[in-house]
Amino acid sequence: MAIDTTIYDRSSGVSSAILDWLQMLTGAGLILFMWSHMVLVASVNLGAGAMNTLARFFEDTYMAQVGGPLIGATFLLHFILAARKVPFRTEQQSTIWKHTRALHHLDTWLWLVQAFTAMIILIMGSIHMWTVLTDLPITAAKSAARIQGGFWLVFYLILLPMVELHVGIGFYRIGVKWGFIKRSNRKGLKRFENILTGIFILIGLITIIRFMTLSI
Ligand code: HEM
Repeated sequence: MAIDTTIYDRSSGVSSAILDWLQMLTGAGLILFMWSHMVLVASVNLGAGAMNTLARFFEDTYMAQVGGPLIGATFLLHFILAARKVPFRTEQQSTIWKHTRALHHLDTWLWLVQAFTAMIILIMGSIHMWTVLTDLPITAAKSAARIQGGFWLVFYLILLPMVELHVGIGFYRIGVKWGFIKRSNRKGLKRFENILTGIFILIGLITIIRFMTLSI
């Protein structure tokens, strides 16, 4: 007797679609967070007082104490959801590598960059969040002391481009996958995404230099 798999197929399709939505929503939430994070941290360029005032506001309203762990949880959930598609096994990795080289398709390369940066961000982002959130309050002087120590300077010089590439490509891929970016506007929006990524890396570097030169 033939087994009717319609119900099974449909339900697994539905749950996969829900998981895809969740992946997109957590990703979009993290993109918004990273943009706000850049503005907040870069406030040090206006003076240590500006950064301290913003940090105190976020701590007095408990947004850092509650929001911080919530961002950490969203970060982990986003990883678990995205990991469904990441090739972890050696044979899967060698297949995707061969296919990517054969296809000559930029968006496939972008997907590989996305998967690679994700692993680095998972480890380094977790270490960073733990370090900052277990050492509240946030002050410009403490951040500067960390970066002037050397270790965190190298750490952020690696994490910054990884995050900005991941955020920029993620933004572009959400647009393509969910239909906001169409064949007609694809080229222009890809250029826009590259420029945005470059601007964020530049602001991040200027901020790191500001921390290096801040007297503590
Ligand atoms: C609630 C969570 C977070 C808080 C409170 C926070 C806070 C901070 C603070 C205070 C700094 C200044 C440097 C320092 O004090 O060491 C910083 C820098 C930085 N953070 Fe975060 N962060 C959070 C989450 C993240 C996440 C999830 C990422 C990326 C995965 C990230 C990436 C970076 C990078 C790359 C820098 C280097 C500075 C720059 O961009 O110029 N942060 N963060």
